[in-house]
Amino acid sequence: MNKLTSLPSWKQLKNHFNKIQHSHMRELFEKDPFRQEKYSIIFEDILFDYSKNRVTEKTMTLLLDLADESKLKHWIEKLVRGDKVNFTENNAALHTALRTPAQHSTQLKNKDIINDVHRQLDKMERFTEIVRCGEWAGYTGKAITDIVNIGIGGSDLGPQMITQALKPYQIKNMKFHFISNIDARHFLDITDKLNPETTLFIIVSKSFKTQETMLNAHSARRWFLQRAKNSELVSQHFVAVSTNIKKVTEFGIKQENIFLFWDWVGGRYSLWSSVGMSIALSVGMKRFRELLAGANAMDNHFSTAPFNKNIPVIMGLLGIWYNNFFGCESHAILPYDHLLNQLPAYLEQADMESNGKSITRSGNKTNYSTGCIVWGAQGINGQHAFYQLMHQGTKLIPADFISSAIPQIGLPEHHETMLSNFIAQSEALMRGRNHDETLQELKLQGLSHDEIESCLPHMVFEGNRPTNSILFRQVTPRTLGSLIAMYEHKVFVQGIIWNINSFDQWGVELGKTLAKKVLADLKSNHSCEHDSSTNSLIRYFKLLNRDNCVL
Ligand code: F6P
Repeated sequence: MNKLTSLPSWKQLKNHFNKIQHSHMRELFEKDPFRQEKYSIIFEDILFDYSKNRVTEKTMTLLLDLADESKLKHWIEKLVRGDKVNFTENNAALHTALRTPAQHSTQLKNKDIINDVHRQLDKMERFTEIVRCGEWAGYTGKAITDIVNIGIGGSDLGPQMITQALKPYQIKNMKFHFISNIDARHFLDITDKLNPETTLFIIVSKSFKTQETMLNAHSARRWFLQRAKNSELVSQHFVAVSTNIKKVTEFGIKQENIFLFWDWVGGRYSLWSSVGMSIALSVGMKRFRELLAGANAMDNHFSTAPFNKNIPVIMGLLGIWYNNFFGCESHAILPYDHLLNQLPAYLEQADMESNGKSITRSGNKTNYSTGCIVWGAQGINGQHAFYQLMHQGTKLIPADFISSAIPQIGLPEHHETMLSNFIAQSEALMRGRNHDETLQELKLQGLSHDEIESCLPHMVFEGNRPTNSILFRQVTPRTLGSLIAMYEHKVFVQGIIWNINSFDQWGVELGKTLAKKVLADLKSNHSCEHDSSTNSLIRYFKLLNRDNCVL
């Protein structure tokens, strides 16, 4: 038996779930006029309202007991102190150190890593300033106009999502591009529009070994040299962010153009380091430091706030409640702010690569469900696509509704209309529309008795669908920093309760290894030694590639 399911709070939660699983939130709201006050937390200008969840006071007490029994406090201390919480890679997971102010100190292997962090930030500052003001010139003396980030996963999603979200702060005379896909179309779609004289590539890869990134980086260098004709000029147009100095140097990037980060930072937790170079080039270091300050403020909240007032802790516990007791398989991220367009894609990696594990820290298979399927899209667009299933389907899908109160730019009516949908949708998901209300509605529409009978069952909404509402003033660097750190810590909370390592990603390795073997098979004439499906896919690929292929 695994430890988690034998914890007293877990057993009590099971009993409690059996009793309250059918309680309707609508009644919970009617019974308690102070429900919203009880179940919401304000952090700076971020309101986290979790009152539209299927919880009672007893639920919250038991979930908080679960956090205590899982020794969450102790694990938070271990995380921020730099203990090797990522034990399968023999590493700390010190992304919090990346946003710790300079006057603090965190010792790792007898070294103050906060010093190292700020030295790199200062180097980033010098570099971004000269590029932004045009002092860093391309090989024909022209200022840089286009920045291309080449990276994938954590070396792409975070920088891309934040650069998009902070567009209102973006420098005017520069454009930002992100190449991640190995499909040549992605590379060509972007580079076709670029002038090599004014383009700067940032090759971002923690390992500097990732197949997709390396291939794209080499294609970028070839693309550049076809025009510039002189390999000496590469250094004016390529910089790198990596932990692997040897490999970067082999690629031909000068030592002074390498920006470091460290093996104690996970790829998906790295946007706060020089991995965020594209963000800093886009909005400037002052804003980048505001982003870090926002994340640091959330780190302090996470480490010090009592658990019943601690947003990441509550978010994590609610996720456990739905995942492990209601059996929910997925969680939707629904931003109502165009700037947060890419937040769902970013959180897919942050959450699923972290908690998509089924072996406990002691090496046993879990006998409970772990990592949730995280997905989502712009809320407004989702309303006209997948919300039908959320409202009336057979699956219970908890969701985070996220929005800002004040738009960065406006057109008459747009923002209020969007916000009215943001608010109304979570109300509808919670309340639903019962039989009597639907009947009343249809009568008012003047439908006949027969018409009402045939359509009424289809128009009833059960409601009782849980949501968190997250509303803040505006998408600023600081608020965004807090928001992202909040999700990072929510993921950590769940990993601790599930007793898994949220900081490794061995699951992606097997596919990578096999892809190398398949690539060799695609290029060779030998017969392949895979299963019959894999062999036949390889054969069919070769057949389709023959000049005289007739099917
Ligand atoms: O394959 C998964 C992964 O290792 C991610 O964890 C990481 O963010 C991504 O690949 C990119 O890795 P790197 O920064 O080393 O190129």
